Amino acid sequence: MTKSKTIKAIVPTNIALLKYWGKKDEKEQWPANDSLSITLNSMRTETKITPLEAGEEHTFSLNGIPHQRDEASFKKIFSHLDYLSEKFNFSKKLKIESINTFPTACGIASSASGFGALTLGALAAWSGVDSIEDLNKKGFSLEEIAHLARMGSGSAGRSVMGGFCHWSPGGSPKTQSIKSVFPKEHWDLRDTVVIIAKETKKISSTSGHREAWTSPLFAPRLAELPNRLSLMLEAIKDKDISKLGPLLEQEALEMHGVAMSCSTPVQYFSNKTSEFLSWIRTVRQKEKIQVYFTMDAGPNVHLICEENCVEKLRKILQNRVPSEALIEDRIGSGPHLQSF
Ligand code: PMV
Repeated sequence: MTKSKTIKAIVPTNIALLKYWGKKDEKEQWPANDSLSITLNSMRTETKITPLEAGEEHTFSLNGIPHQRDEASFKKIFSHLDYLSEKFNFSKKLKIESINTFPTACGIASSASGFGALTLGALAAWSGVDSIEDLNKKGFSLEEIAHLARMGSGSAGRSVMGGFCHWSPGGSPKTQSIKSVFPKEHWDLRDTVVIIAKETKKISSTSGHREAWTSPLFAPRLAELPNRLSLMLEAIKDKDISKLGPLLEQEALEMHGVAMSCSTPVQYFSNKTSEFLSWIRTVRQKEKIQVYFTMDAGPNVHLICEENCVEKLRKILQNRVPSEALIEDRIGSGPHLQSF
């Protein structure tokens, strides 16, 4: 391909089963604990990148709307580009056009897929390649790309891997690892997202990570997590939803418990969320359906189940949730690059 060809990076979002919450070192993006996630399939960011002529400046648009460097919500995007170009001496400026395949402002965090696609796409455009294999030949392995993506948003590192992904803090910022531990074919898990509220979160995850250390629940959480991680990995290895499910719920509630018990409490949970969670627990018992919830740093709920429960779950949800507040997704194989 010619060096100024447009390429498209497609990176799905992910949902954490074991949550990344709290950083040991903010500058190095060194997490306080291990996290484990599934990379999704159809909820993704697609970012088109075209290298520009000398003398031009980076441009960025999201869902067709241009955004500037000095806009508070978009500063991090331009700083991430600066970080990458300075680190590798890439001088060309880029035209970046990003879209999210899930509804905008629906309360679903897009930073994981967004920073994943920005990192992968920018590196491919600067390196003049249009495939992940060729990018690898230029010295950018998927794991290296994952580490670069996490510098924009921690959870973005996990989106660069397909299937089940484990981000381990290791013993120092430099020895962190981000690896796919099982491919998507291992276990066809499904995620039905229930949009409880559309607002984007008022308190950023950056503040949430910082505050976590002030919660009296945080130290006991960190002590328990290695055990929870190995139980989760075992449940995934055995494809045992009845073992994984209760751990998912405990984990999500504990993360929100930590958030809510900080010195400056961070309340992502809404009353509607609580009502929905107790309803789904009743449904699980009454209907004998193996469906379990998890959540991000927001009021929305992710319902995790196996493929054979999806249809029954869809029918159950029909009477409670409007169809436009539901997004059905599944575990996916990770990022792609396309050329034009
Ligand atoms: O990637 P960040 O800094 O937005 O943090 C994400 C934190 C959670 O989504 C709540 C949990 C996780 O592990 O993805």
